[in-house]
Amino acid sequence: MPISTALVATDRPARYLKQLVSHLGHKADTALAGDSRGTVTLGAGSCVLTASSDGLRLIATAADPEGLARVQDVVARHLVRFATQEELDVRWSEPTAGGDLEILDPVVDDYLLTHCTPADQALQELASTTREATGNAAGMQISHDEGALLTLLTGLTGARFAVEVGTFTGYSSICIARGLVEGGHLLTCDVSEEWTAIAQQAWEQAGVTDRIDLKIGPAIETLRAMPQEAVIDIAFIDADKVSYPAYYEEIVRRLRPGGLVVLDNVFLGGRVFDPAYQEDHHRAMRELNDLVAGDERVESVMLPVRDGVTLARRR
Ligand SMILES: C[S@@+](CC[C@H](N)C(=O)[O-])C[C@H]1O[C@@H](n2cnc3c(N)ncnc32)[C@H](O)[C@@H]1O
Repeated sequence: MPISTALVATDRPARYLKQLVSHLGHKADTALAGDSRGTVTLGAGSCVLTASSDGLRLIATAADPEGLARVQDVVARHLVRFATQEELDVRWSEPTAGGDLEILDPVVDDYLLTHCTPADQALQELASTTREATGNAAGMQISHDEGALLTLLTGLTGARFAVEVGTFTGYSSICIARGLVEGGHLLTCDVSEEWTAIAQQAWEQAGVTDRIDLKIGPAIETLRAMPQEAVIDIAFIDADKVSYPAYYEEIVRRLRPGGLVVLDNVFLGGRVFDPAYQEDHHRAMRELNDLVAGDERVESVMLPVRDGVTLARRR
């Protein structure tokens, strides 16, 4: 499904947004969310409008290029017509498919990787063991910069008790365990005996075995069996995507005030942005992203780190 974006430079983005949503409300499906966000759905396509400090941001999507061209045309024509006191320039980007979106230029990517605390020998060896032992599945391992971020966040929250959903071969567990305060613990959950056997060897080598408790079994059962009290200081969710909303809910209600939940892969390789992708995990991730953004129990931010990382801090 093609996507195209535009940034319309103006000092009155919220005014045009409201005007467009209200005007098109007579012939299209429209919705306003506060003063700064609106959606217009026209037949096979739609446009999301966001008022920002630098102008009016537009994201148009449609089932096919013809539908996209129609959405672009309707939105642009109306905006230009509404702007009686200025000349708006609506310049759409070339259409791309959500699955093809490149979040970071490879040059930036490489620069980031080489400009954070370097991976030590234990992490480097685990990365190469994982590649040899698991083949393509090795792509599930978090990258080194994301690992450095996890250690840093764990340290910043002064975490004594951490929870991880999705152990795999143990890379992120090591990064979290290393950020814990003296005497702190990480409970990590996975369903795979095979992959976590590699993790257990790696934890030995990294000297963190005594800080990690591994629980094999569906993570949702492990989470639901935990006490209901606010005992979690930091949690990292990186497992089956369809269950993210359920994992988030079980974790948020157990986060201590100031505690943090870190959610990985919230972009799903760009597919969350593209309505053409409608499998269960795509829908679940959109549901989760909307849920977190509107959740008054937390303050949150979505970062363009790798495949998208959301941080949500319990108020
Ligand atoms: C993306 S990998 C985790 C990668 C890991 N964080 C790392 O950095 O190496 C996802 C893991 O979730 C596990 N998993 C999938 N479904 C699960 C479930 N229902 N409960 C617990 N773990 C699950 C998989 O076995 C896999 O090891």
